[in-house]
Amino acid sequence: MSIESLYRETQALDERDALAHLRDAFVLPVNAQGQTLTYLCGHSLGLAPRAARTLVDQELSTWEALGVQGHHEGPRPWIDYAEALRPALARLTGASVDEVVAMNGLSVNLHLLMASFYRPQGRRHRIVIEAGAFPSDRHAVASQLQWHGLDPDEALIELHAAPGSDLTEEATLEALLETQGEQIAMVLWPGVQYLTGQAFDLPRIVAAAHRAGAMCGFDLAHAIGNLPLSLHDAQADFAVWCSYKYLNSGPGAIAGAFVHSRHSRATLPGLAGWWGHDPATRFRMEPQFIPASGAAAWQLSNPPILSAAPLIASLALFDEAGIERLRQKSLAMNALLRREVTLRFAEALQCITPPEPQRQGCQLSLRVRAGRDTGRRVFDTLQRLGIVGDWREPDVLRFAPVPMYNRFDDIARLIQALDQALNLR
Ligand SMILES: Cc1ncc(COP(=O)(O)O)c(C=O)c1O
Repeated sequence: MSIESLYRETQALDERDALAHLRDAFVLPVNAQGQTLTYLCGHSLGLAPRAARTLVDQELSTWEALGVQGHHEGPRPWIDYAEALRPALARLTGASVDEVVAMNGLSVNLHLLMASFYRPQGRRHRIVIEAGAFPSDRHAVASQLQWHGLDPDEALIELHAAPGSDLTEEATLEALLETQGEQIAMVLWPGVQYLTGQAFDLPRIVAAAHRAGAMCGFDLAHAIGNLPLSLHDAQADFAVWCSYKYLNSGPGAIAGAFVHSRHSRATLPGLAGWWGHDPATRFRMEPQFIPASGAAAWQLSNPPILSAAPLIASLALFDEAGIERLRQKSLAMNALLRREVTLRFAEALQCITPPEPQRQGCQLSLRVRAGRDTGRRVFDTLQRLGIVGDWREPDVLRFAPVPMYNRFDDIARLIQALDQALNLR
């Protein structure tokens, strides 16, 4: 198919797209000449919703005008700020409002929840992660083991993909849990793998962990706002996420956490701070810690209002669009991108993201078969051509058509630029 007919196809798809108007709710980056870039990097940092600036400005104005009274007055009193984020986060994660909370950063939340959910006891002390886990997760888990006086070389199980494959199968994890389950205290797994874009069957993973008697937690950095989630029904014990990728809340934005309603801070040990205290009596300033109900009890500090404001803007857009509709568009975009890459560049690029819709999110990861040097050259050329994706060592290009703000046209642009960068003509 010629590139012209691909453009005609994507134009028709954009004209029929019921979510196309949402692109206008975002600010699109431009190059030095003022041309709009083809932004395909929402798996790393989502774009700024236009309303984010208004909301941050509003809080700055409240602070300037009211000072400390901003906690109780103004358009959104700060005292209830984190509380107000919970219903929309619950909708995105398939949880009840009580089961979710916005707080801290992802790695901090991971530590806080492991302080409660990783309870090594004798033989049952090992933690399972995937061998290619995001480094921060590995650091967090290894340091928790050391914190408990354990040796990560012995107590950390890193599950490898099958030889010759980039993907870790749920069945491999199930087999491990069946044979070594009595040694395993906790499984920590991603919702979507950051490098390969592989989406996992979360209910299946929880069920396998629970059959073995282990706790099961998830890192949803690449899953929240990308796929519909049903953490409550899946029976996940806990989950953490950041908000700067598919949740479009800005660099370092306030992160989040889920704790299943069958768990309670009243019975689980954990680390405490005043913001996790029951809000009804928090300001009595009494010495005893009385936990708030649900996930809110894991909060330590009062929330960072300026980093939480953009999340309000973003969550309103998710409520408007609906994650199921976004998912349908995402699958269509991903299928088109995969089709074109396979048709045109199979000799040069290998799609490492699984082809099955239920095993993928927005991101498509492409291995440059010729290796690192060619890959870096391709990546640099793409950047010069106005394509924003990213590069992961040693040989992977990642692109994410995000249904909230990308058009099908962006896929045609990427294909045209890849054609040029790979110099296939
Ligand atoms: C999968 C995954 N886990 C953890 C992190 C670390 O997040 P943070 O720096 O917000 O703690 C990231 C950051 O990109 C990530 O992609």
